[in-house]
Amino acid sequence: MSDEQSEFATNRRPLAVVTGASSGIGYELARLFAENGYDLVIAADRPLAEAEQAFTAQGAQVRSLQADLATEDGLRQLYALIQSSSRPVDALAANAGEGLGHAFLDQDFARWRHVVDTNITGTCLLLQLVGRDMRERGRGRILITGSIAGLMPGTFNAVYNGTKAFLDSFSWALRNELKDTGVTVTCLMPGATETEFFHRAGMDDTKAGAGKKDNPADVARTGFDAMMKGEGDVVHGAMNKMRAAMAAVTPESRLADMHRGMAEPGSGEEN
Ligand SMILES: NC(=O)c1ccc[n+]([C@@H]2O[C@H](COP(=O)([O-])OP(=O)(O)OC[C@H]3O[C@@H](n4cnc5c(N)ncnc54)[C@H](OP(=O)(O)O)[C@@H]3O)[C@@H](O)[C@H]2O)c1
Repeated sequence: MSDEQSEFATNRRPLAVVTGASSGIGYELARLFAENGYDLVIAADRPLAEAEQAFTAQGAQVRSLQADLATEDGLRQLYALIQSSSRPVDALAANAGEGLGHAFLDQDFARWRHVVDTNITGTCLLLQLVGRDMRERGRGRILITGSIAGLMPGTFNAVYNGTKAFLDSFSWALRNELKDTGVTVTCLMPGATETEFFHRAGMDDTKAGAGKKDNPADVARTGFDAMMKGEGDVVHGAMNKMRAAMAAVTPESRLADMHRGMAEPGSGEEN
C-alpha cells in the first residue's frame, strides 16, 4: 500500500461515493459531501482533476476514476477503487446518467444502448456491489438520481424517460427490500436542471432545453437533505411537485402529447 493509500485507509472521516461528479448535479452533490466532512471516491467519463482539486480544497481526501460507467469493466474498476480504500462506504450517490433527444426511430443504436447501459445496468450493478457491503455492515445511505421524467412517457426522449421510470420504481423496491437493515434508499427526482444534460442529449433546440431550469446546487441540496433524513423520494421544487402530482392523474396519451411540446426538435425556437 502506498503512503497515500494508507493515509486514505486510516482516515476516520465518513466516505461517500459519487458517480457523475465531473459536472452538474453530481458535482454539486460531491461538493456537499465534502462540505459536510466526507471524503470522496468520485467517477465520471471525463478527467476529474479539476473536480478533485475543488473538493480537496474543501478539506476532503479524494480518489477519482475516469471510466465509462456504461460498461461492466468501468463499474468493476470503480468497485475495486472503493475496496482498495479499505474503508466502508457511508453514502453512495448513484447519479451518473445521460439523456438522448430526437425521435426513437432516428436514434443510433449505440447511442441509446449507452443510455440504457449507463442509467440502468451500470447504476444497478454499482447499487448491488456497494449495497451488499452496506447491508452486511448494517449501515449506509443510498441516493439514486431518478427524475420526474420517469413519471411521463418521453416523446422525443423515449428511451431516457423509460430508464428514469425504471430507476424511480427500482428505488422504492430496493428501499423496501432493505428495510430494517440500517440501509436507506432515497430517490432524487429533479425536473429540468441547468446542467450539460440537454446539450449532450442534443436537445438545445427544444422547449425543455431552451427554457428556464433549476439550479443544480439547489437540486443537489434537496437530494442530500432527503438522503440524510432517510426519506423515500423527493421531487425538487414546487413547480415540479405540481407536475408530478398532475402526472399521477393524467392519461398517458395526454402526458405523451405534453412531452412532445417540450422535447420535439425545433420546439425551443418558438419561444
Ligand atoms: N439536468 C436535468 O434536467 C436532469 C433532470 C432530471 C434528472 N437528471 C439526472 O441527473 C443526473 C446528472 O445529470 P446532470 O443533469 O448533472 O447532467 P451532466 O452535467 O451531463 O452530468 C452527468 C454526469 O454523469 C456522468 N456520466 C454520464 N454518463 C456516464 C458514463 N457512461 N460513464 C461515466 N460517467 C457518466 C457525466 O460524466 P462525464 O463528464 O464523464 O461525461 C457527468 O459527470 C443524471 O442521472 C440525469 O439523468 C437531470
